[in-house]
Amino acid sequence: MSDELKPNPPAPERRSFLKEALIMAIGGVAALVPVCAGLAVLLDPLRRKGGAVNNIRVTSLEALPKDGTPRKFPILAGRTDAWNRYPDAPIGAVYLRRTADGKVQALNVVCPHAGCFVDFRENTKSFFCPCHNSSFSVDGRIEDPKSPSPRAMDELQVEVKGAEVWVRFQNFRTGHAQKIPA
Ligand code: FES
Repeated sequence: MSDELKPNPPAPERRSFLKEALIMAIGGVAALVPVCAGLAVLLDPLRRKGGAVNNIRVTSLEALPKDGTPRKFPILAGRTDAWNRYPDAPIGAVYLRRTADGKVQALNVVCPHAGCFVDFRENTKSFFCPCHNSSFSVDGRIEDPKSPSPRAMDELQVEVKGAEVWVRFQNFRTGHAQKIPA
């Protein structure tokens, strides 16, 4: 090949410009990584705000009456606002009872009608909401068809781990026939 047909190599100034541009691009990407990671950590509590509360240890199995009578327990959990984590505090309550088949049932104490707290009445062995007189059987079903509650008491998932009772605590919207997470 004659010298006239060979491509001209880039001028030295152009080569050094391209090299500098490449170094700057790599440097920019490298600098963005820690900035993005920092932002993710900073904003993480905001993303977690309002998430469902999962499996909480509520009590020991021994604390539940053997005859199946429900007992009320507070649900304690740490609270997290935008950038702080606070120690455990009550976020709700549940009734726990042993069932005839040896399992444990958990019912949210909040009435599905309008959100009052439901009481357990020893004399009738049933639940009663004092706000608008909804009544529920011991397993949470609507007892009196005239009850204004649109659904049964909200049952929650329970797990017995060894001698401990864990509940997947959750609140549901009131006033609906279906359980809609709040
Ligand atoms: S809030 Fe319970 S019956 Fe209305």
